[in-house]
Amino acid sequence: MNIVIFGAPGSGKGTQSELIIENHGLHHVSTGDVLRDEIAKQSDLGKIADGYISKGYLMPDELIINILDRLLDEKIMKKGIIFDGFPRTVNQAEALQKMLNKYGQDVSVVIGLEVPEDELITRLVKRGRISGRFDDNEDTIKQRIQIYHKNTEPLADYYKQAGIYYPIKGIGTIDDIFKQIAGVLKSVSDKESGRQPA
Ligand code: AP5
Ligand code: MG
Repeated sequence: MNIVIFGAPGSGKGTQSELIIENHGLHHVSTGDVLRDEIAKQSDLGKIADGYISKGYLMPDELIINILDRLLDEKIMKKGIIFDGFPRTVNQAEALQKMLNKYGQDVSVVIGLEVPEDELITRLVKRGRISGRFDDNEDTIKQRIQIYHKNTEPLADYYKQAGIYYPIKGIGTIDDIFKQIAGVLKSVSDKESGRQPA
């Protein structure tokens, strides 16, 4: 099963990915984590990424798609993947489809975490104070959310049209949100294996 976990900055993509992995044993691909690693290593890619991330802008599609293409291989594809923070544009979604098709696979399900904007800002400002993630300051957070609405949110419609978008209310306790996600994943995997839901 290949899962896309979708949502605004601070909606809980990383938090819920960890729980999904604990329970389903998938491979986690977080493009944000990959880029932050490159920044920490001060690689050429990291230097480019820093310029975009610190301003709250998206990296160019071509660069991100190349990173993904290099990351995927037979072994990872056998395990199934949870994509966290990718795709973020329709271009990226189309490229992902092509990459998965090369391995005879598809996106099985898109989990859309829906969280009101004031809650997103509260969470990220708080994390910025505690962990000091360098893009968690108020100006950059607002820019990230604006870019989300403009460039990323339209992807929800793209996946709704494909019939694989499942909205989840992303507020409340982390465990309760995970229970809703687990329910969706079970019904999708039952459907894929042709079983009737219990
Ligand atoms: P990325 O790292 O993907 O960041 P993001 O989308 O801004 O999202 P976050 O990681 O901040 O939030 P999250 O949804 O993972 O929530 P989390 O679980 O951490 O991308 C960073 C940057 O990299 C982008 O801005 C862009 O520049 C670049 N980039 C990455 N991918 C790209 C791509 N595909 N194309 C182009 N550019 C790309 O939770 C947030 C906080 O809330 C945490 O402190 C958590 O503990 C807390 N929390 C979680 N759940 C709850 C809850 N239920 N109640 C209360 N608090 C909660
Ligand atoms: Mg994250």
